[in-house]
Amino acid sequence: MKVSFLYTFPLVLLATACFGQHAAPLSAVNPYEYTIQKKITGSTGAVVSAHPLASEIGVAIMKQGGNAIDATIATQLALAVVYPAAGNIGGGGFTVIRLANGSNITIDYREKAPNKASRDMYLDKQGNAQTALSQNGHLSSGVPGTIAGLFDCMKYASLPLKKLIQPAIDLAEKGFAITESEARSLNNHKEEFAKYNTVTPVFIRQNGWKAGDTLVQKDLANTLKRIRDKGKAGFYEGETAKLIVAEMKRANGIIGYDDLKKYEAKEREPVVFDYKTYKIITMPLPSSGGVLLPQMMHMLEDQPVKEYGFLSAQAVQLMTEIERRAYADRAKYLGDVDFYKVPVKKLTSKEYAANRMKDYNKQTAGTSVAIQAGIIPESEETTHFSVCDKNGNAVSVTTTLNGSYGSKTVVGGAGFFLNNEMDDFSIKPGVPNMYGAVGADANAIAPGKRMLSSMTPTIVLKGNQPYLVVGTPGGTTITTSVFQTLVDMLEFDMSTDDAVNKPKFHHQWLPDEIYVEAAFPQTVRQQLQQMGYKVTQRGAIGRTEVIKIENGRIEAVADSRGDDAAAGY
Ligand code: GLY
Repeated sequence: MKVSFLYTFPLVLLATACFGQHAAPLSAVNPYEYTIQKKITGSTGAVVSAHPLASEIGVAIMKQGGNAIDATIATQLALAVVYPAAGNIGGGGFTVIRLANGSNITIDYREKAPNKASRDMYLDKQGNAQTALSQNGHLSSGVPGTIAGLFDCMKYASLPLKKLIQPAIDLAEKGFAITESEARSLNNHKEEFAKYNTVTPVFIRQNGWKAGDTLVQKDLANTLKRIRDKGKAGFYEGETAKLIVAEMKRANGIIGYDDLKKYEAKEREPVVFDYKTYKIITMPLPSSGGVLLPQMMHMLEDQPVKEYGFLSAQAVQLMTEIERRAYADRAKYLGDVDFYKVPVKKLTSKEYAANRMKDYNKQTAGTSVAIQAGIIPESEETTHFSVCDKNGNAVSVTTTLNGSYGSKTVVGGAGFFLNNEMDDFSIKPGVPNMYGAVGADANAIAPGKRMLSSMTPTIVLKGNQPYLVVGTPGGTTITTSVFQTLVDMLEFDMSTDDAVNKPKFHHQWLPDEIYVEAAFPQTVRQQLQQMGYKVTQRGAIGRTEVIKIENGRIEAVADSRGDDAAAGY
């Protein structure tokens, strides 16, 4: 098996490797030799995702006659194999679709709290929060939603599932060459994989992984085959359900057969709002982005941010104060609307935004209530991909296990990681989750409830046609990164490359500080400090994937912060 990585040249070898019998091979995709292309331009279709193989598979499906929705399904399934840290079938996510016929669709397949979950399940006898239990291992998992979401998405597909799922089956069964960063990541998590699994998963290699090693996932291939052959029941019932419940019983897990059988994805009313001459379509609750993004864009709309200039101290101060106000509302008001009445209309109205900015002071730092909150860790492994086709369909998908490799627990015999999404609930009012976010009653745990999310897959229309397809991973930084990407492109007229790759910053009300990436200019940090802000450097913020479509030209740009890659033609 030849293994090489050509990071700077286009794909050179066509695959002859092994393909399943159920569908024609995707001959343009070689799982053992591939390149990471950060940018493509074309006129027919594009996919930009966290992994080059997943992007290439999506495009290959379009070349075989599929539309953007077919490409989305194939890409998502491929990510579950080639990007186990966040691509998943054991997690959940949100899909925002703009169809060529002008309709907007959002699919919510966020995980749910199991029936046996309860409000105080992560508190000890003294009432102290046990975040170790909400963040790792069997008890941290919500009921997975990804496969249910995928079958909802199939309504808009044009090709049969067996064709869309086969590339993922082949990648799992025959293996693929892992990248250097995947090898490093698997090695870094080896001890946690050992700690949270009773059946040793294929992700542990005693002598360590290195770039180019082949990762084969036979159990995952068999799970994917059951989904291919039995549909949604191939995951939520029968053998896969049996393996999930057996895994739960090996430790302290509480997901039962009933939780799995009853799980349903939901099509929700999309959030659609105007920003100047643009129309923005995004995901509603339980995505906090569906409230925060319109709030932040409305708070910005009448401000002269363009005059201030990109990453000027004035622009960063303004956007920080906007972010602070939005995230304060997130902590108090937002949760699953199926369980809690959230004043969405009011929170997203232009009048409310104008009122919120009345106490905004251009010269000095605002303050958040002084509550001790956690430090934001650097690992925020959600994943986003953007897709478009020549017919005018566009799809924006953000999906997650929550942290890197979710709960770190692999379902024995089924080969996939379960999420640790229960930590996105507010496990105790005022106690920060792994992203430092605090919450209240609105986001308290209840059986069957969906935990609040930051995932903000978004599509911008210009002249009523898809113009931008945007999204990113990054925990609570997701919404601010989408906000900043939109401001960069719609206000600062920035190129797609710059909007994706220039430094980002983040403020989330609590902790009361501005987080900045390493490349954030020193002079601007000093100016902000002089205004009274605490500025803290942290790791990369997000991995933004953007497609821009203008005058028939498609430009897809993958974030330089990871292995992310664009493909298209
Ligand atoms: N687990 C990250 C999010 O949903 O926001």
